[in-house]
Amino acid sequence: MFADLLPAAKDPILSQSFICQQDPRAKKLDLGIGVYRNEQGVTPVLSSVKKAETQLLATQGSKAYVGLAGCERFNNAMITLLLGRDSTRTEVVGVQTPGGSGALRLLADVIALTNPNATVWLSDLSYANHAPIMKSAGLNVAYYPYFDTISKTVNEPAMLDTIAKLGKNDVVLLHGCCHNPTGADLSYAAWQTITDMTNAQGFLPFIDIAYQGFGRGMEEDVAGFRYLAERVPTYLVASSCSKNVGLYRERTGIAVIASSSLAQSECIKSRIMECARSTYTMPPDHGAAIVRTILEDASLTAEWLTEVTQMRERVQSVRTSLASALRSQTGTHQFDFIEQHQGMFSVIGTNDDQLKRLREDHAVYLVGGGRMNLAGLQERDVEYLAECLTSVMAR
Ligand code: LMR
Repeated sequence: MFADLLPAAKDPILSQSFICQQDPRAKKLDLGIGVYRNEQGVTPVLSSVKKAETQLLATQGSKAYVGLAGCERFNNAMITLLLGRDSTRTEVVGVQTPGGSGALRLLADVIALTNPNATVWLSDLSYANHAPIMKSAGLNVAYYPYFDTISKTVNEPAMLDTIAKLGKNDVVLLHGCCHNPTGADLSYAAWQTITDMTNAQGFLPFIDIAYQGFGRGMEEDVAGFRYLAERVPTYLVASSCSKNVGLYRERTGIAVIASSSLAQSECIKSRIMECARSTYTMPPDHGAAIVRTILEDASLTAEWLTEVTQMRERVQSVRTSLASALRSQTGTHQFDFIEQHQGMFSVIGTNDDQLKRLREDHAVYLVGGGRMNLAGLQERDVEYLAECLTSVMAR
């Protein structure tokens, strides 16, 4: 049966982390996979999460199945976190999923079910797993211009020019905030324009929000998305609790469906649950139970928000330090964009040869394409990293 099967190609993100772990050198920097590490280099279990787990341990009376949509209290709390307490939308439903990637896949499956010829438009560049997920669901993938490699900002005119040509067989995948991999986010004005275009042209907005709270703030990061969400009848959202609740291995996420009527949203939800049934049946409960416990308790929510603020501020401070170290070491402002970018990542402009030299000569690991995870960097390593970057990028 399997005699002719070739091994899978290595995952561009996960494989780097594995290779770094095997690297015997004492001084090494793993700035690949998108995982937050504190100043001690540890990815902590948040204190609010520990408290929620303690409560669950004391009160959980059963491990019986929950249901295909997971925990509805989790789904409702997450929808409120995304849309805001003031949202006027009443036709929005959710399905708890195994992480944000699980949500992306189920939503891609339901798009393919209803329109097998749909094309999903991804930003150029985009998250390395977006295209594989969309293609695995049988969807076509195309790219709209996004990242200007010279200015390291979003080329909004070029992006909007391409989106202006799309119609009802098209899906436009947008990053809600903290763009992965570039770190360059859309302006509020661009969200407004895309909202108008969606309503005029009929393409489907599909928003991936995996880093809410890691950019400017929990509310600020979704301001553009909320503008769209209040005005566009039908859209889809994939969201994740991996980063902002630190629940990476618990695989906790949500697929959100909004349409013009609650009945239609429920219909789409039923088909998503059918897709879930034929793949993994039900999502794991523990992470969602933690998030529900936090979001339903005002004092735990306040503690969690403080912890997210601490993580965000540490990443911002590391960005400022690295930009400053690179300013003094290169004598130029060419890396100032690191300070302007939002969230965990920046694409820093290293080519394949420079990435290889960073890895082989300095044990500094980035993802292909030059994505650096600033959330994995400690202040004590900033000068060293700036020296390594300066030396490989000068030649
Ligand atoms: C990343 O982009 O590094 C993370 O989202 C991890 C993943 O699953 O790819």
